[in-house]
Amino acid sequence: MIDVHSHILHGLDDGAETLETSLAMLRMAAETGTTDIVATPHADLSFPYRPELNAERMAELSAAGNGSPRIHLGCDFHLHYENIQDALAHPTRYTINHKCFLLVEFSDLVIFSSSGQILGSLLDAGMRPVITHPERNALLQQRIPLLAEWVAQGCHLQVTAGSLLGGFGRRAKEIAEELMRRGLVDIVASDAHDCEHRPPRLDLARAHISRQWGKETADRLLVRNPGAVLVGDPLESSDLPPGGAARARKWYRFWR
Ligand SMILES: [Fe+2]
Repeated sequence: MIDVHSHILHGLDDGAETLETSLAMLRMAAETGTTDIVATPHADLSFPYRPELNAERMAELSAAGNGSPRIHLGCDFHLHYENIQDALAHPTRYTINHKCFLLVEFSDLVIFSSSGQILGSLLDAGMRPVITHPERNALLQQRIPLLAEWVAQGCHLQVTAGSLLGGFGRRAKEIAEELMRRGLVDIVASDAHDCEHRPPRLDLARAHISRQWGKETADRLLVRNPGAVLVGDPLESSDLPPGGAARARKWYRFWR
């Protein structure tokens, strides 16, 4: 499996605090079936984006580890004004592996009415926004039709593995399941911060999704789509029966 969202690099944000923790997280990921993990330090008002330092820490961790899983670089891009302006000026600066996919985290406090336009600008600049864990955001939980609009616009939704297992409470689980039913989810990732409370494990979610939605769906969400993210290929859409917001194409949504 491929995990496109983790806070595995130490001393950069609220993720791993020490190199030892980073290494323990890497080991846990490898032992539970993850072959590739993307380090996505926060880029927000609390943790400024420092790409050189991120690359340094990634090299340090790669050298200290045994190459399994492979580590890639991205960032957890908070949707605020300065970030947006900078990303529009430098479209591959914040994206995963400097390809086209950009993790986008919405504020818990306010969803601007211009959000659709902002996402449109990012798309027009060549980025493919991947909206992270909408099921855990109290404001987005109430805006599923808006999420469906953004998906129709060309964005993707990433759900946290732990949400599907109930680790973020009943409401997050219900919303994650509703997004799955509507065929709106394209990626499941760990958003790991440590080994105890928010671990870098995808295996439990894979088993759960396989049981509830079928092995094919589990592979799409945890293997094929995240693999496409690493290289900047188009993602596979859901072929689940429509639950109100069916997507136009069964398989591939082509680039604009
Ligand atoms: Fe995150």
